[in-house]
Amino acid sequence: MARYLGIAAALAATGALAITPEQMISAPRRSVASPNPSGKLALISTSQYSFEEESTSSVWQLLDLATGELTDSKWNATEVSEVVFLPGTETGILYINATNEQTPGGVSLWVGDVLKPAEGTLVASLDAPFSGLKVAKTSSGNLHFLVNSLAYQNGTAFNPELVPTPPHTGRLYENVYTRHWDKWLTKERYAVFGGSLLANSSYSLAHSGLRNLLQGIKFTATRPESPVQPFGGSGDYDISPDGSVFSFLSKAPHLNKANYTASYIYLGAFDGSEVATAFNGPESEVFKAGHQGASGQPTFSPDSSKLAYVQQDGDYYESDRWKLYTLDISSSSSKLSTSNWKGVVPKFDRSVASIHWAPNGESLFITAEDYAIERAFHIPLSADESFIPKNLTSVSSVSGLSVLPDSSLLVSANSIWSSRDYYILSGNGTQNVLFSSTKADEELAGLGPHTFSEIFYDGSLPDFDQQLHALVVKPSNFVQNKTYPLAYIIHGGPQGSNGNLWSTRWNFQVWADQGYIVVAPNPTGSTGFGQYLTDAIQGNWGGNPYDDVVLGWEYVKKNLAFADTKNGICAGASYGGYMTNWIQGHDLGNEFKALVTHDGLVNTLASWSSEELWFMRHDYNGTIGDEYTTYDKYNPMNHIANWSTPQFVVHNTLDYRLAESDGLELFNILQAKGIPSRFLNFPNENHHVLKPANSLFWHQEIFNWINHYAHGEKFDEVPIGE
Ligand SMILES: *[C@@H]1O[C@H](CO)[C@@H](O)[C@H](O)[C@H]1NC(C)=O
Ligand SMILES: *[C@@H]1O[C@H](CO)[C@@H](O)[C@H](O)[C@H]1NC(C)=O
Ligand SMILES: *[C@@H]1O[C@H](CO)[C@@H](O)[C@H](O)[C@H]1NC(C)=O
Ligand SMILES: *[C@@H]1O[C@H](CO)[C@@H](O)[C@H](O)[C@H]1NC(C)=O
Ligand SMILES: *[C@@H]1O[C@H](CO)[C@@H](O)[C@H](O)[C@H]1NC(C)=O
Ligand SMILES: *[C@@H]1O[C@H](CO)[C@@H](O)[C@H](O)[C@H]1NC(C)=O
Ligand SMILES: *[C@@H]1O[C@H](CO)[C@@H](O)[C@H](O)[C@H]1NC(C)=O
Ligand SMILES: *[C@@H]1O[C@H](CO)[C@@H](O)[C@H](O)[C@H]1NC(C)=O
Ligand SMILES: *[C@@H]1O[C@H](CO)[C@@H](O)[C@H](O)[C@H]1NC(C)=O
Ligand SMILES: *[C@@H]1O[C@H](CO)[C@@H](O)[C@H](O)[C@H]1NC(C)=O
Repeated sequence: MARYLGIAAALAATGALAITPEQMISAPRRSVASPNPSGKLALISTSQYSFEEESTSSVWQLLDLATGELTDSKWNATEVSEVVFLPGTETGILYINATNEQTPGGVSLWVGDVLKPAEGTLVASLDAPFSGLKVAKTSSGNLHFLVNSLAYQNGTAFNPELVPTPPHTGRLYENVYTRHWDKWLTKERYAVFGGSLLANSSYSLAHSGLRNLLQGIKFTATRPESPVQPFGGSGDYDISPDGSVFSFLSKAPHLNKANYTASYIYLGAFDGSEVATAFNGPESEVFKAGHQGASGQPTFSPDSSKLAYVQQDGDYYESDRWKLYTLDISSSSSKLSTSNWKGVVPKFDRSVASIHWAPNGESLFITAEDYAIERAFHIPLSADESFIPKNLTSVSSVSGLSVLPDSSLLVSANSIWSSRDYYILSGNGTQNVLFSSTKADEELAGLGPHTFSEIFYDGSLPDFDQQLHALVVKPSNFVQNKTYPLAYIIHGGPQGSNGNLWSTRWNFQVWADQGYIVVAPNPTGSTGFGQYLTDAIQGNWGGNPYDDVVLGWEYVKKNLAFADTKNGICAGASYGGYMTNWIQGHDLGNEFKALVTHDGLVNTLASWSSEELWFMRHDYNGTIGDEYTTYDKYNPMNHIANWSTPQFVVHNTLDYRLAESDGLELFNILQAKGIPSRFLNFPNENHHVLKPANSLFWHQEIFNWINHYAHGEKFDEVPIGE
């Protein structure tokens, strides 16, 4: 693989250590590592964009977990879209082949051996674009698998390639949920399907075919759907290792899905004897105890006797704490029952992000965001209520974790200076680094932790007992005693964070290497510092968060001699864009030479063009017409009179939660006031700029703008105009 890049090669030849947007965009992107059952090797999917060829290529690679050697598996990644290892084998796999010779738009299932590419055996022809494969081996040797696909209301899987194009393009709605993220709602919903591959006939698909596991669930407001859109995937469902029980989550069937985030976890017998039911829905013990919000991460224990999962309490608060629970499952006499539901580490003031069972089923490994890093923790199920788990990892962020048979962890990590590290963490705390992209990839040459540091400063919330945190990233070729303009970058969410991680969208090292000191603060509203700081942003968007951003800036001005705050710029996306717009109308705005807003609100009432009504109801402390809302109090539009700083506005057409009219409104007002400003739109991007060539243009134009105001460079692109 690693087709070498002209642009990167030319830059490498000049000896410059700095990472350019081109290098970041065209560097290899590696998936998390997925180990085989014996823990000797792991599969990785790697993709890489080539500016020369204007295309992305992908390969399946094998990581030797003893030596760290990474080799091409020779499986054709154009054909093989997903691979899972077969339980009880060394290198046996079940995989999805993205092509289907009989049905256009369908896929096929194959079994094979990961070490014998191109020797797979076709076991099932599937007539729709199924994905999200999970598999279990039953005591009889049969394989029970789960996949998901869009489905018609009658339960049949939907294959868009087989549907004739309708004569008109009209879309008619009578409910508030018309579109979300970057898709308009259609009549189909996602569903989880189960199928059996028979051991006694070369794993051919049982005659019963695939069964839609959501069929038969009653609803009054929201039709059951799993995975939950737009980001749900195979993490939204699971199958017990013995193949007898499945679980999936779906939004509350009796609540309007624009008003609420609530979702429940359903369980069902794989044999289809009963319709799946939710154990934490209304009327349940869980619900009555006040746990009524979104559910996630259903994960069966190795012996299939328990399920671990996370849930939020609030039924319309998307950033409530994700709390951890377990319950016992019994499927004796073909009737499913649950018991012994309990909270695990209830005093742990962090949101649990992923769950992984230890092989003996007596403890859990979890990941959670903690002080701007995603870290791993270990929790014995015998722990008492007061137990607070300790972090097993630090320094880099954990993006994937697998527990190996000897209970050591295979960790896939990333950081400001590395797009991917793979290491094994032993029970005694020893880290055995198998692979680091910073060493392997020419595009990342010269990056390292030397540019990274953290600062802590006093915030504005009187009741918060900790200091606030911010990341500081210096240029790769930082010269002692020189100063560099400040690039102050505000995060989105607002319940989110600026973390020590590798981003292909807001990569702080790429920004710093344009000749800036990046400071990325975590003000009121940030996650990973305890729920109090997160919750304190409700009804308070331009209040304490703004005061904290000002305090952070003052700290930098006073304490970081190498940061030139006189020529600084401020930038942010989403809520970070809102905050930048708020700063534009407030005193801090005068301290920056230029601002950059990406898909950020300028008019709080415009958030009603989004269908996430739960979000405004929570964050603005009420719905339209309520007495105590903060739409007006914290509306950047009320401060137009004070706008004066040059501002670059990005707003994308496919961002359906923050409609592009908001960015146009911002730009047109800036223009009307005679404030230097530019507007950048991508008609084919959503909230994020994902296409490589678009991403390059985004970086070039934003950097051209800030480099003009902060470094006095010339504008080099003539925008569309006059
Ligand atoms: C991979 O599969 C695609 C689609 O079947 C095919 O066009 C291509 O030639 C294959 N590549 C290799 C290297 O075999
Ligand atoms: C994928 O399926 C196609 C037929 O649709 C077949 O020609 C090809 O060999 C299969 N590839 C793999 C890796 O199974
Ligand atoms: C379900 O509906 C689709 C679309 O109308 C149709 O093509 C399919 O045959 C139906 N399936 C069943 C089992 O009725
Ligand atoms: C294979 O096993 C299935 C059940 O797992 C059974 O229904 C079927 O009759 C068996 N077929 C043969 C050929 O033994
Ligand atoms: C846990 O986090 C703290 C703070 O970052 C760090 O000092 C410590 O080394 C971490 N522990 C482990 C085992 O990584
Ligand atoms: C820690 O455990 C690993 C794996 O069992 C072993 O190889 C290593 O020697 C141990 N290190 C120490 C310091 O005990
Ligand atoms: C930086 O400045 C200090 C004090 O002004 C001086 O002692 C030191 O030599 C300078 N370092 C470099 C690398 O110029
Ligand atoms: C939120 O609204 C309630 C009334 O529903 C009011 O008591 C409270 O002060 C409001 N909070 C904020 C932060 O505005
Ligand atoms: C949605 O919530 C609002 C209050 O925020 C309420 O007025 C409205 O009736 C709700 N709609 C549904 C369908 O639940
Ligand atoms: C403009 O800024 C001044 C000085 O901070 C302030 O007194 C005034 O209220 C601001 N006006 C608006 C509309 O925000």
